[in-house]
Amino acid sequence: MKELKIALLGLGTVGSGVYTSIMDRKGALEELLGHRLKLSSILIKDSSKARPFVKGVPLTSEFEKAIGEEVPDVVIEAIGGIEPARSYIIQSLEAGCHVISANKDLIARHGEELTERAAAKGVRFVYEASVGGGIPILRTLRELLRINRIQHVEAILNGTSNFILSYMRTTGSSFEKALELAQKKGYAEPDPTNDIEGLDAFYKAMVLSKWIYGVQPSWEEVQVEGIGNVLLEEIQLAEQMGLRLKHLVLLNDRLDLQVQPVFVDSDHPLYGVEGVDNAIRIQTDLLGCLTLQGPGAGAEATASAIVEDLLSIYETREIYRNKPAVSELCPKKQEQEVNT
Ligand code: NAP
Ligand code: HSE
Repeated sequence: MKELKIALLGLGTVGSGVYTSIMDRKGALEELLGHRLKLSSILIKDSSKARPFVKGVPLTSEFEKAIGEEVPDVVIEAIGGIEPARSYIIQSLEAGCHVISANKDLIARHGEELTERAAAKGVRFVYEASVGGGIPILRTLRELLRINRIQHVEAILNGTSNFILSYMRTTGSSFEKALELAQKKGYAEPDPTNDIEGLDAFYKAMVLSKWIYGVQPSWEEVQVEGIGNVLLEEIQLAEQMGLRLKHLVLLNDRLDLQVQPVFVDSDHPLYGVEGVDNAIRIQTDLLGCLTLQGPGAGAEATASAIVEDLLSIYETREIYRNKPAVSELCPKKQEQEVNT
């Protein structure tokens, strides 16, 4: 049995979840992959932090050591931010490693470039965990897009915002207390600004737009509003009127994108999506309407998507391809619609 070496970049919320999930399921994964699995190194930033749960895997704060000494087959990037994550991913791809990432900020901006670099080296760059936490959104859309055209998308894509709004409504707590809890649970980014200002959902929407339509709306023209100014009184008043505040992403095939909090009534399909859950509701020409819902953040949910990506790399079946299938089906029409 061949040995498959994995380097893990980052050992925070996501990295720790990935470490534990792989270690706990090693036997089952090895059987599915047909390879022995070895976590060959873990990259961290602060060598002084105690990480007693890590057993038998070398920790290093030098990237060159993480992929240089024993070149891995797969690199899992769970650092976040643009740099040095982008450079590390490029160096990993250049070294012939498959790369898995959960980094929506980076993929929204540089996903196309990284996918092309991967293709040029004959390796894979995959990022299911970057949108919707544990929900297999990209994989499902990829399958659907073979035959369906997606007309519009309505989604809750930030677990922290949905958690905060639900928690404030159900407990009467302040925004600050709800955010603190979201941070403790590992839902929020290390700096939660992007979560509460709507940018995290915006980046995910940009990843989705590229995935579905092959293009993104103009970055400058999208109005992005988060939940940073929401008051407990507003949420409570809305509740009395049968309404709930939800942070929504609305995207359609004309590339109109809105990212904003919206009051929805009990007939709205995303009204009941509560806590850290994310949900995506898509309307297609053939299937009709489909809603996927599940945990949108946190160590385990994100690790689930990352480990799914690991399996997908070694699947013989071609699920992922580098270009959106919809544009391959009818490139002229797609182009026309996007330009009008
Ligand atoms: P985190 O808890 O802050 O962990 C980041 C990890 O990366 C830490 O272990 C940190 O090292 C390491 N790191 C940071 N900068 C580094 C550098 N320059 N060199 C080497 N290591 C560095 O963040 P996280 O919540 O796990 O998120 C990681 C990524 O996953 C982000 O892109 C995030 O958007 C994405 N994501 C997160 C979630 C979630 O629920 N949290 C869900 C989906 C996607 P130290 O431990 O030494 O500080
Ligand atoms: N901070 C993100 C969220 C993590 O709350 O949705 C998942 O991408």
